[in-house]
Amino acid sequence: MEKIRIAFFDTKPYDRSFFDECNRNYHFQIEYFETRLTPKSVAMAKGFDAVCAFVNDNIDDKTVDELYNMGVKLIAMRCAGYNNVSLKAAYDRITVVRVPGYSPYAVAEYALAMIMTLNRSLHRAYNRIRENNFSINGFLGFDLRGKTFGIIGTGKIGLVFAEILQGFGVKIIAYDLFPNHKAAKQYNFEYLPLEEIYRQADVISLHCPLTPENVHMINHDAIKMMKKGVFIVNTSRGKLIDTKALIDGLKNKHIGAAALDVYEEESDYFFEDLSNHAIDDDKLARLMTFPNVLVTSHQAFFTREAMTNIAQVTLDNIRDFFGPKLLPNAICARCDGSRNCPPANTPCARKA
Ligand code: NAI
Repeated sequence: MEKIRIAFFDTKPYDRSFFDECNRNYHFQIEYFETRLTPKSVAMAKGFDAVCAFVNDNIDDKTVDELYNMGVKLIAMRCAGYNNVSLKAAYDRITVVRVPGYSPYAVAEYALAMIMTLNRSLHRAYNRIRENNFSINGFLGFDLRGKTFGIIGTGKIGLVFAEILQGFGVKIIAYDLFPNHKAAKQYNFEYLPLEEIYRQADVISLHCPLTPENVHMINHDAIKMMKKGVFIVNTSRGKLIDTKALIDGLKNKHIGAAALDVYEEESDYFFEDLSNHAIDDDKLARLMTFPNVLVTSHQAFFTREAMTNIAQVTLDNIRDFFGPKLLPNAICARCDGSRNCPPANTPCARKA
């Protein structure tokens, strides 16, 4: 039997080591490309049965059309989010699969790590001490205990975040399009309307997917509703926040701090070593100047356990697609299992 050929895009050495190790059990013919999958690079997928892509690949209408025309049958996302894939173009032509939950712990733990780091200035203390500067001026933080945490999106990651917070003596309030009342009881939190989360929370942590409806949900109007000194954490997707509004809120001190593992224009920067280049993106460059902003490069997922699960589930998805099995991880705009079902006329990319 001929081996199934998979073109991996946007790969780094760590992707290759985890996937090569895992592929010992699958024997797929894998080719790794460093370049992103975009309308420009899509020609590289010619001759492959499937492509495997990541968070910053640009799988828009044109990319999908080209993939379809060259006979690629499957887009296997090696991540949970799929906002960068045109499901409309894929509908009924190319199946799209993803890895829905490789480690909610990795991301939830990371969100808390960012809060603790930024609140207590650990990132700055590390640098100061290395220069023999033992002053603690400017490092004043606050106790988490007694503060109100607002969680937006109580799916897998949001709930692990709520679970972790149980030990901190905080009050948790949450918003989700589809409230999970059983979990709310279990983790002692209350669902409130979004505006109330904005009004009441000292710390707001985003754990919802990016959808066409919630692009720039954190904008000038939302920030205006928030408490002065609010702490905003985004480990979800950059476009949930209007960066210009965030910068304005930081400049006028309405926002106390921002921890960002994602950024709306991250695709040209994140995951790359650009230490010999100037940053062209003025908003990113400005963000990085604030002492009360912590930017990291979309690394919340990056644990050994998550990488192992990503490789395993991605290769399982590919095996299942080319075999007789059902595809539990196919992305269907109506039934992707996330309980985030858009209106009924949204196209579905699930294999029939
Ligand atoms: P999930 O699908 O288990 O949960 C998402 C929750 O958000 C669901 O309960 C859904 O009903 C809710 N939701 C959808 N739209 C909403 C809206 N407009 N407002 C409020 N709630 C809404 O997803 P999971 O696994 O918890 O992941 C959440 C997000 O985290 C992913 O979509 C992805 O964007 C991001 N992520 C980031 C990673 C990183 O490395 N920084 C790694 C993995 C995921």
